[in-house]
Amino acid sequence: MLPRKIKDRVYWLGAVDWDRRLFDSLIPLPDGTSYNAYLVKGSEKTALLDTVDPSMAETLMTQLEDVSEIDFIISHHSEQDHSGTIPMVLEFFPDAKVVATPKGKDILIDLLKIHEDAFLTVQDGETLSLGDKTLRFLYTPWVHWPETMVTLLEEDGILFSCDFFGSHIAASELFMRDEGRVYEAAKRYFAEIMMPFRNVISKNLEKLKGYDIGMIAPSHGQIHEKPEWIMNAYGDWVNGDPRNLAVIPFVSMHGSTREMVDYLTSSLVGHGVRVELFNLPVTDIGKLAMALVDAGTVIVGTPTVLAGPHPLAAYATFLANALRPKARFLSIVGSYEWGGKTVESLAGMIPNLKVEVLEPVLCKGAPVKETFEGLDRLAETVAGKHRENGFA
Ligand code: FEO
Repeated sequence: MLPRKIKDRVYWLGAVDWDRRLFDSLIPLPDGTSYNAYLVKGSEKTALLDTVDPSMAETLMTQLEDVSEIDFIISHHSEQDHSGTIPMVLEFFPDAKVVATPKGKDILIDLLKIHEDAFLTVQDGETLSLGDKTLRFLYTPWVHWPETMVTLLEEDGILFSCDFFGSHIAASELFMRDEGRVYEAAKRYFAEIMMPFRNVISKNLEKLKGYDIGMIAPSHGQIHEKPEWIMNAYGDWVNGDPRNLAVIPFVSMHGSTREMVDYLTSSLVGHGVRVELFNLPVTDIGKLAMALVDAGTVIVGTPTVLAGPHPLAAYATFLANALRPKARFLSIVGSYEWGGKTVESLAGMIPNLKVEVLEPVLCKGAPVKETFEGLDRLAETVAGKHRENGFA
């Protein structure tokens, strides 16, 4: 794709990766992604803000063919989908300075072996003049690594936010038009990489409110012409109460745990609790992460296998612990036939979660009358806890 003008002497560059389906060897990308870079030409100096994933370096280099000089390469975030093409850009523009936070500089040296002399480090709030355009750098740690910062182009009111406010969407439209689609993709992205750092992100959001921002241009997905829309969504994900929602990741080997989960779902719904089920062998982990943003309660369904939880249930529990969702309650349901330590094993895997563990419901073999009574009691307890806590 050719460079595209956003405002006077401000251009989108970058690559749309329609085919990519996995990120970090972990995160599913059902809609592909884009690596957005931006070019800002001041009256005296020119800055390139971020680059692209090395797999698409040629695309960016072709877009830069008509650019006579780059004075600064702004690196908001050292992950290679944004920084990986910096070494190639430096080959073509050897006098350019790489602008980063001190932490960003260290990581870029570690990962990309960029020479120390190429860097210009900036402090939080510092400005860089391009002549008639001014870049202000604002530290926003943990969106998504500790070194991340964003840049405000003051005269145009454009915030270049890198991963922050981004979404993995491959699209030909530069600006957001389909709110539903972008909301879902942005929430998925938040859940997968930023949810564990909610407290810091809340502070970052608060900090940005002090600036005049008319547009947010992230480095994945589409540009926001209504900054308050995406900032409010983040505010809800970060600071809002959990919802009246039970999320049930489960796996069943021969149907007993599935029968329990189906019964529990019905009972929860009967008690007015919304439910999202994730059958782990066929689950998109990103969808599960997204549901965890809102969950009031998480209930893991697993058979006992090899004396413990099914490995897929252990994986989902490990992931939930790493993502640190806002959920306040957790329980376990499942079937076993002989001894094991399923509950102890799973309970030991959630040190990061600030949850009350509700009495698990386990049954020997296929579920019987007492099992269903236990599931009804669990559903009633969950509904009561959600009501007491005002989860809506
Ligand atoms: Fe888009 Fe954390 O990289």
